[in-house]
Amino acid sequence: MGGPADRRSVLRAGLLLGTGSLTAALAACSSPQEATPAAGTTPAPDPSTAAGVTTTTPSTAGSSRTLLVYFSRPGENYFNGGRTDLEVGNTEVLTTMITDILADAGVDCDVHRIEAAEPYSDSYDATVARNSSEQEDDARPAIDNPLASLEGYDTILIGSPIWNVRPPMIMATFAQAHDFTGTTVHPFVTYAVSGLGRAERDYTAWCAGARLGEGFAARGEEVPDPASSVRSDAEGWLATIGLLTP
Ligand SMILES: Cc1cc2nc3c(=O)[nH]c(=O)nc-3n(C[C@H](O)[C@H](O)[C@H](O)COP(=O)(O)O)c2cc1C
Repeated sequence: MGGPADRRSVLRAGLLLGTGSLTAALAACSSPQEATPAAGTTPAPDPSTAAGVTTTTPSTAGSSRTLLVYFSRPGENYFNGGRTDLEVGNTEVLTTMITDILADAGVDCDVHRIEAAEPYSDSYDATVARNSSEQEDDARPAIDNPLASLEGYDTILIGSPIWNVRPPMIMATFAQAHDFTGTTVHPFVTYAVSGLGRAERDYTAWCAGARLGEGFAARGEEVPDPASSVRSDAEGWLATIGLLTP
């Protein structure tokens, strides 16, 4: 595991972002540990309302059902070599863009925002440190608002930032609490330098029974910029994966 391209992206991310121990990052890249069962994810019958984007009750209309699940962390973050303070996380901004595009096309999409039971710090460095140890430990950080079920969905968009070249480990907590049989999973991420990083490989391992479909990656710094091409790139991706055709 972990070809030269992966190693280059880990090195680049480690150097540019100061993402903790480079040795740990390389170890995580080249010898991923076996997944362990999710902890603290007892399904709740009534998913709570997400901040920013509302979690909706699954609709029953139509034969094809789409769910978007995402995690995003506002606060201090990496920004073009420096730092910025994000009032709304980049992945949440991208999520809103995606759901707006789908709504404009008349496509129903239920949305669920993953909330950490132990919220991540507003501090960038503290979050880097916590994420490094969660990756090293192959941890499954508990989710505060577990989703009851994926039943009835056939397309699942899973969004997160890239942390140390991978989705945050809380995405594994989410994915391993569910049966994805019969679904197609499309990862989407926001990032600084790593693109999708290890997202496709991780979700292939974490989403039991899913077919992994094409993913989408947007640079975090560009997502809130209306002059960027992110919205049209997202439209192109949604069209390619067949979500914009009625
Ligand atoms: C703990 C942490 C680790 C990160 N590691 C990487 C990385 O390895 N590669 C990368 O391209 N960006 C990395 N980033 C930058 C984020 O992926 C990027 O800023 C993203 O848009 C943040 O999304 P959010 O605001 O939805 O959390 C990291 C950010 C944090 C907070």
